[in-house]
Amino acid sequence: MSSKFPDHFLWGGAVAANQVEGAYQTDGKGLSTSDLQPQGIFGTITPRVDGDSGIKDVAIDFYHHYPQDIALFAEMGFKCLRTSIAWTRIFPQGDEETPNEAGLAFYDRLFDEMARYGIQPLVTLSHYEMPYGLVKQYGGWGNRKTIGFFEHYARTVFERYKHKVQHWLTFNEINMSLHAPFTGVGLAQDSSKSEIYQAIHHQLVASARAVKACHEIVPGGKIGNMLLGGILYPLSCKPEDVLETQRQNRDWLFFGDVQARGGYPAYMRRYFRENGIQVEITAEDQQALRETIDFISFSYYMSGCVTTDEAQNNTARSNILNMVPNPHLASSEWGWQIDPVGLRYLLNVLYDRYQKPLFIVENGLGAKDRVEADGSINDDYRINYLNDHLVQVAEAIDDGVEVMGYTSWGPIDLVSASKAEMSKRYGFIYVDRDDAGNGSLERRRKKSFYWYRDVIQSNGNSLKNKA
Ligand code: BG6
Repeated sequence: MSSKFPDHFLWGGAVAANQVEGAYQTDGKGLSTSDLQPQGIFGTITPRVDGDSGIKDVAIDFYHHYPQDIALFAEMGFKCLRTSIAWTRIFPQGDEETPNEAGLAFYDRLFDEMARYGIQPLVTLSHYEMPYGLVKQYGGWGNRKTIGFFEHYARTVFERYKHKVQHWLTFNEINMSLHAPFTGVGLAQDSSKSEIYQAIHHQLVASARAVKACHEIVPGGKIGNMLLGGILYPLSCKPEDVLETQRQNRDWLFFGDVQARGGYPAYMRRYFRENGIQVEITAEDQQALRETIDFISFSYYMSGCVTTDEAQNNTARSNILNMVPNPHLASSEWGWQIDPVGLRYLLNVLYDRYQKPLFIVENGLGAKDRVEADGSINDDYRINYLNDHLVQVAEAIDDGVEVMGYTSWGPIDLVSASKAEMSKRYGFIYVDRDDAGNGSLERRRKKSFYWYRDVIQSNGNSLKNKA
C-alpha cells in the first residue's frame, strides 16, 4: 500500500500508570481510586489489606523495568509513547500544597529515558484514577473544591515537565463516568444522574482550566481531550431507530462538544429537563469552559447498534458498553465487535463535527496468546486486527481527515482495565505474568513486534489492503 500517512505521523503505543507501573506504595505514592478496585474499573470498592492486594500492585512493574521497555519500544521505532502520570505520586492525598519530589523525579527519569531515543511523550493527566484521599475527604468530583486540587496538580506537572512534554491529555475516556462513576468521578455506582452530571461538570471545568494552564506554561504545548469513541449505528433504517441512535451518540459526543466548542450544546437542556437533572453551572464556569482543546483524542475498539424494537433490544450483549450487537461483525474473545471501517467512519464524524486534528490514542485487540515450545508467540490475529484498522486510518487521511498519530493500546502486555486480567493481552511484547500474579515478568517479542516495526519504518507502506 502506498503511504497516505504524513511524514511526521506520531506512531507509537499507549499505556496507563495504574495498568503498568505497579510500585503502588513506592517513593511516597498515595492510594488512588484504582488501588481500591482490584477487580477492575467496574469492580466493587475494596478496602486495602497489606500484602493481599490486586494484580495492579505490581502490574508489569514498569516502575522498575521502564529502561528495558523503552529500549524495546525504540527498537520498534516508536515516535511517541502515551502514558499517564499517577496523580498520587505527585500529591499522595490530593490536597497537599507541596508536591512529592520522589514522584516528580520518577517521571523526570522516565521522560529523559524516552528523550534518549527521540520518543515523544503524550501524557494523560488522569487515566482512570484520582487520589482516594480526595474521595474520602471531599466526595471526589462531586465537590467543587476538587477542581482547584486538580488545577494545582496540572500546573505543577506542566511547570516541571514543560521542556520535556509537548503533548498532553486531560481525562482519559471522560465519558466513561456515565458507566463507571467511581472510576471516572469518584462517586458511588448508585449515584443519581444529577450527582453524576454535577461531578462531570466539575471535571469539564477542571479540564478547561488545565487547557488554559498548559497554554500559559508549556511553550508550544498542545493539549487534547480523550473520548471513548463508542460510535453507534442504527440497527435498521427505521426513522425512530436513526433518531434514537443520534440521541445515544450525543451521550458521549456531549463531552467533546463542551471541550471542543467551549460550552454546553443546546440539546443537553432538553435532556436535563426530561431526566430531572439539576446541574449548578456558574457564570465563572461558563467563562472557564470557553478555553477549548487543541486536538481531539479518542480510543476505538468496537462499534455497536441501537434499536427501538423491544425484542431486539433484549438480545444478549457481551461487550463492555452493553451495546446491541451488529449482525455483520465478528467479535473478539471478550465479545468486543471488530469493525475497522467504523474507525474510518468515526474519524470522519469527529472531523466533520469539530474540524480539529485527531489523535487515535488507543486501539488494539485483547486476546489470549500462546507461547510455543520454541518460545515464539505467533499473534497473527493481532496483526490482522491492527492492519485492518490502520488501512482504514489511511483511508480517512485520504478523505481529508487530519490525523496526528496513532498509539496502539498496550504495546506491552498490561493489566486490563475492565476486569484487571493479565490474560487479556494487547502487546507486541509479551510479559510473563498470569492472572494470579505468577511469572518472572520477563519480556519477549511477539510476531507482531516485527510487523509493527515494519509498519513504522515504512510509514504505513507495508500495510496490506485486503479489499
Ligand atoms: C480503554 C481504557 O477503555 O480501554 C484503557 O482507556 C483500557 O485503560 C482499554 O485498558 C482496554 O480495555 P480492557 O478492559 O481490555 O483493558
